[in-house]
Amino acid sequence: MALYTLRKITIPLATKADGIAIKRAIDDAIAECGLRITLRGSLAKFPGCVHWHVKRAREAGTLEITSWPEQRRAWLTIQDGRKADWIDAMVPTILNAIGRRTGLKIQPITPALTAAFKTVRLRALLDSPIAFGSTYAREAQLSDADWQQRAVKWNAERSAGFLAFDGDEACGIAATFLDDADSARAHLVSMWVAPTHRRGGIGGTLVVAVIGWAMAKQVKTLHLMVTSINDSATRFYERLGFVKTGRTEPYPNDPSLLEYEMVRQIGVVDTFQRS
Ligand SMILES: CC(C)(COP(=O)(O)OP(=O)(O)OC[C@H]1O[C@@H](n2cnc3c(N)ncnc32)[C@H](O)[C@@H]1OP(=O)(O)O)[C@@H](O)C(=O)NCCC(=O)NCCS
Repeated sequence: MALYTLRKITIPLATKADGIAIKRAIDDAIAECGLRITLRGSLAKFPGCVHWHVKRAREAGTLEITSWPEQRRAWLTIQDGRKADWIDAMVPTILNAIGRRTGLKIQPITPALTAAFKTVRLRALLDSPIAFGSTYAREAQLSDADWQQRAVKWNAERSAGFLAFDGDEACGIAATFLDDADSARAHLVSMWVAPTHRRGGIGGTLVVAVIGWAMAKQVKTLHLMVTSINDSATRFYERLGFVKTGRTEPYPNDPSLLEYEMVRQIGVVDTFQRS
């Protein structure tokens, strides 16, 4: 895995959150995570931004956080020379802590969320038919009891599914499961973000949630299949550190297309997003 000089992770923001709410959410999330602020200032490059340096106790490594209200953007950066294992381990927690306070939440799929799970999964299949192995026609036939069972299955010992919520609206989904033959491998599937919410960091945050689960399961590599004509998803995965393995398979819903396998290492420093 290449060494990146700067890693940047977009913090997804709820539609309703303003600059003051975001600043307060970041301050409170830092405190909740037991981290300490060593600097709170601004950067001339992003006029009006708030920029934090954050450390854990006396350990090496600095996490930088920037909120730029003018552009409605916020991000984490980990500079070369300031990396540390605790930062990688802490990224999913801090994204969740900020998100929860601004109204942008990543939640595990549970039976209580069956209705949202069904809605978002069917929206995904309708919106992006070439992106998935399954089809809207197939899954629209499932009964509510089937969806309830799926909600249980998608979050079990060997699998995890996550939904992204902007306020009450489910706007993204991702899932993962351990390989049957080799538990050091996991597969990333069902990745989708609503068109209204794309390029705001939600997809990246869902992948961070999947990686957090995979790290806890001692997974070494995360694999996925992407359709050969899905350039935007391929760029998205590359940005998150996935690389093509060279293995291809025919795309089941259209044999004129291929699926490319991509893979990413898990659990080593330097695996988060490239700048
Ligand atoms: C792929 C997808 C999940 C990305 O979700 P997202 O929330 O928009 O992604 P993020 O905002 O976290 O993007 C992170 C980075 O990925 C890259 N990226 C994402 N979408 C991209 C696009 N359309 N073109 C180029 N790069 C893209 C960018 O580098 C982006 O960072 P930036 O916005 O700071 O430049 C979303 O576009 C989607 O749902 N597509 C349709 C379904 C699909 O193809 N799923 C994949 C099945 S294998």
